[in-house]
Amino acid sequence: MSDAIEAHLEESRRVPPSASFVARARVADRSLHAEADADFAAFWLRQAREQITWYREPTESLDDSNAPFYRWFADGSLNLTYNCLDRHVEAGGGDKVAFTWVGEPGDERVITYAELLADVERAASALQALGVGKGDRVAIYLGMVMELPIAMLACARIGAIHSVVFGGFAATALADRIQDATCKLVITADGAWRRGQIIPLKDIVDEAVASCPSVEHVLVVRRTEQEVAWLAHDTWWHEAMAAADPRCAPEHMDAEDVLFMLYTSGTTAKPKGIVHTSGGYLLGAIMSHQWVFDIRPDDVYWCTADCGWVTGHTYVVYGPLANHATSVIYEGTPEHPSWDRHWQLVERHKVTIYYTAPTAIRALIKAGEDAVERHDGSSLRLLGTVGEPINPEAWVWYHEHVGRGQCPIVDTWWQTETGSIVLSPLPGLSTTKPGSAIGPLPGMKPVIVDEQGAEVPVGGGGYLTLQRPWPSMLRTIWGDDQRFIDTYWSRFGPTVYFTGDGARTDADGDLWLLGRVDDVINVAGHRISTTEIESALVGHPAVAEAAAIGAEDEIKGEHIAAFVILRDGHEATEELRQALATHVAGLIGKFARPKLLLFAPDLPKTRSGKIMRRLLKDIAEGRELGDATTLRDPAIVQAIKADADRQMHR
Ligand code: PRX
Repeated sequence: MSDAIEAHLEESRRVPPSASFVARARVADRSLHAEADADFAAFWLRQAREQITWYREPTESLDDSNAPFYRWFADGSLNLTYNCLDRHVEAGGGDKVAFTWVGEPGDERVITYAELLADVERAASALQALGVGKGDRVAIYLGMVMELPIAMLACARIGAIHSVVFGGFAATALADRIQDATCKLVITADGAWRRGQIIPLKDIVDEAVASCPSVEHVLVVRRTEQEVAWLAHDTWWHEAMAAADPRCAPEHMDAEDVLFMLYTSGTTAKPKGIVHTSGGYLLGAIMSHQWVFDIRPDDVYWCTADCGWVTGHTYVVYGPLANHATSVIYEGTPEHPSWDRHWQLVERHKVTIYYTAPTAIRALIKAGEDAVERHDGSSLRLLGTVGEPINPEAWVWYHEHVGRGQCPIVDTWWQTETGSIVLSPLPGLSTTKPGSAIGPLPGMKPVIVDEQGAEVPVGGGGYLTLQRPWPSMLRTIWGDDQRFIDTYWSRFGPTVYFTGDGARTDADGDLWLLGRVDDVINVAGHRISTTEIESALVGHPAVAEAAAIGAEDEIKGEHIAAFVILRDGHEATEELRQALATHVAGLIGKFARPKLLLFAPDLPKTRSGKIMRRLLKDIAEGRELGDATTLRDPAIVQAIKADADRQMHR
């Protein structure tokens, strides 16, 4: 679609909520926003007392005495799993389905709240039997099997800190994360199903753990059932469960005790362990899940995210369970065994709320409308997106073909760091526009600022900042308080949170996200830093220097393009090109494999030595080249472009 048509769509289309949706909506006016704006600390304390079941109810709300190390509800005491499980069972809601889990090969498991609680208690006892206790770190490296949420909850029950590592990461990346957190235990499986193939998780863990002296035990779920090597520190999950005490009382946790850490990419090669604590995080998950998804007792809710990412933490596990919702979990990807898999599941399980990523929507568009139309999707009442900006064309398709023109769409903006949704339309309140995240949830204060930190007037664009602390905010970066301050709280002042995103408002004051303004690439909703790719490349003996950038991609939003200068004695062959791309995938994970890898005689640099990334982007996207006159050596660009033209027209 041309830019002009997209712009027209953006400006012209407005979708107000239907009267029938508004009539039953949880939020249909701005009174919560008004209450929070009047006194946000009091607002959050009221919500925390009403929504969370505490062992010791907090009397304190925000403690900003040591900003930016904010604390929330610090004198409160709670347990996440008590809030997600026990309290519902005690109130008579144990028979409600918590998850309908569907395996990639088609196997199914329906698990009620009472059954989930029983499994979590056993798993928690099993962890204790392996010597895991409060404050210990546990790495979880699994596919989307039921044991993944169970393992997370088992940690939360005993106060161990979980660090879920997405099952697509390679051994080196996994080892880096285990080492950084000095994890005591790793929970994995023999393998994971991925498009009919087995990802050998156990082999990858064995390789990683060989360089992780902190690991005492590896707990192995049996899923794909192929033979695996067995080491002295390995225990089968099912055997540990069978032997475990069926009861495990929840640990009383202070609100500010760490619940989990989750690694995400920053602007250096070293990933950041984002730290979340218990009380504030849970409140953010509960409230946003209620407000944004308008969750009701009879909903069947499906968030398609993997628990390896923050969306799976907040909107597969903690938010929906604390709200006593019924969810669907699917182990596989949307295209396997065929492109109508999701719509089949929507029909079969009568899904009412469906939450996915724009990259999946674009792939589903490409697969054709008949895959959707072959199935009855009339149960759907609300749709959501997350992870990257959604282009208006995809939004409109989603609205018309999946939502039959009747379901509100919530475009939710947030980050691993924010813990829960920050910007989103509210489905019973907001008039939506294709591609706009509209505005803040109650209590949040986004401000778009210019280079100097001054607020940009309505209608303008700049850097997105958050200028009020919120309960589910990250508390620090694991083991690196200074990096926490430098990354988020320095650019525009010590109490202004810098998101790393660009944004603008339109004439109505509605917010539009413009993508990252730092060196972070967003490939299919996965965050990767350019430096991570570059340091993987220069680690290869043939590479002298490398530059990576994100280039526009029709399906994935961005793809990785890498520019490589070879060391003397190495020839720019096709084999080497493939070998380098495979080398990156082997170190980080397949999702980080560069799609375009170009050999360059040198990198285009300004006279002061700065790499001109804009020119590299022009080349990777096949555009006419911009101004190259400030370059040290303008001829270089032509040489790289010649290689690019050969690659792109092959
Ligand atoms: O650039 C923004 C983009 O994803 C980044 C956060 O990535 P991550 O921590 O992996 O969390 C993803 C899921 C919450 C943001 O800095 N992003 C996320 N949601 C949106 C988005 N960009 C535009 N629109 C969104 N709705």
